[in-house]
Amino acid sequence: MISGRSGRIRTCDPCVPNAVLYRAEPHSDKRPAYSVGLDAPQAAGMRNFVPVKTGLKTLILPAGHAAAEAAARRLAAGGLVAFPTETVYGLGADAANATAIAHLYAAKGRPAFNPLIAHVAELAAAQAIGRFDDRALRLAEAFWPGPLTLVVPKTEGCPVADLATAGLDTVAIRVPAHPVAQAILRAFGGAVVAPSANISGHVSPTLASHVESDLAGRIDLIVDGGPVEVGVESTIVGCLNAPMLLRPGGLSRERIEAVLGAALVRPPAEADSDDSQPLAPGMLASHYAPRAHVRLDAHDVAPGEALLAFGSARLPGLDAATAVMNLSLAADLDEAAANLFGYLRALDAKRPRAIAVMAIPEEGLGEAINDRLRRAAVAR
Ligand code: TXA
Ligand code: MG
Repeated sequence: MISGRSGRIRTCDPCVPNAVLYRAEPHSDKRPAYSVGLDAPQAAGMRNFVPVKTGLKTLILPAGHAAAEAAARRLAAGGLVAFPTETVYGLGADAANATAIAHLYAAKGRPAFNPLIAHVAELAAAQAIGRFDDRALRLAEAFWPGPLTLVVPKTEGCPVADLATAGLDTVAIRVPAHPVAQAILRAFGGAVVAPSANISGHVSPTLASHVESDLAGRIDLIVDGGPVEVGVESTIVGCLNAPMLLRPGGLSRERIEAVLGAALVRPPAEADSDDSQPLAPGMLASHYAPRAHVRLDAHDVAPGEALLAFGSARLPGLDAATAVMNLSLAADLDEAAANLFGYLRALDAKRPRAIAVMAIPEEGLGEAINDRLRRAAVAR
């Protein structure tokens, strides 16, 4: 279902009754929806903000052989390189270089206790980093390359720097499918840690221009591979004991459970708050946040609100909305996931009183969409 999506979704106008909005379609919007964001810091992301030397010249290259080679050189030199994966754009650093990783945390303003995903080109490389039991192996073989991250115990000589795993004895690993990510990983040869390429707490980037608006002047290179396909981050499964769903994402729970022949274990509820030690430590309650308040499960639109619609129902108050974007008129959850972060950025840029969001079914990629929306809606 992920591979079945066409580029058409991102290039056609969203079918919403608002002409102004058509022009704001974010996948063709070359102007950033966000500045660096320091004028309205997101509480979750900025609380632990580390000052970072800005003023770096950020090179932007179109994807291709030359860009992959340039990216590999920058990574080897300790630089920070943003590149597309099929889920969202990632900000890469050499996983074995603690100094580069420190720069990465600073560039994002990311809390240092929040560990990173190590990206490699294939399963064999992953097995040099982490220990895979039978079930982890089955999942890797079924879904890699693809939008799945596995958390497994580190190997003895695991080359990933402690700073990247935040001192844990486990490591998160992913083999991305995107050809540009694959080309960069193969040209570089080692593991690359890559969080989403946004300022910590912001909405994840699905276009190179989103990366530019958040991180220009803070990173060395952005490789522009156009819009991403999936649109929400990878699904994270912990494979320590019984496989546990640590973060819903671009691979649906249903598909994973079909391969395992068993239900994924749910993390304990207390693992999902700011003040406990979370199992997937990045899953802070408030995250993925636009500036505007987000109002979930909307059955109407209040004056001054923007509407993030789903499906073909017309809500009362629609005509007075500041802006309207429809995640998927056809109520297709894959299409909605691909549009989610870009549309949140675009609606937020209209400075509405709030963003009202219609209900999304909790199935397939709807689980990941609702997870991100709930985090965006947490009062800050
Ligand atoms: O799709 C994705 O996964 C993207 C692309 C760039 O690959 N990356 C991404 O990374 O979303 P990030 O850093 O935004 O999210 C990584 C998540 C965080 O929630 C972090 O806490 C969790 O992975 N994580 C990393 N290492 C972990 C570990 N050892 N145990 C549990 N969770 C871990
Ligand atoms: Mg992120």
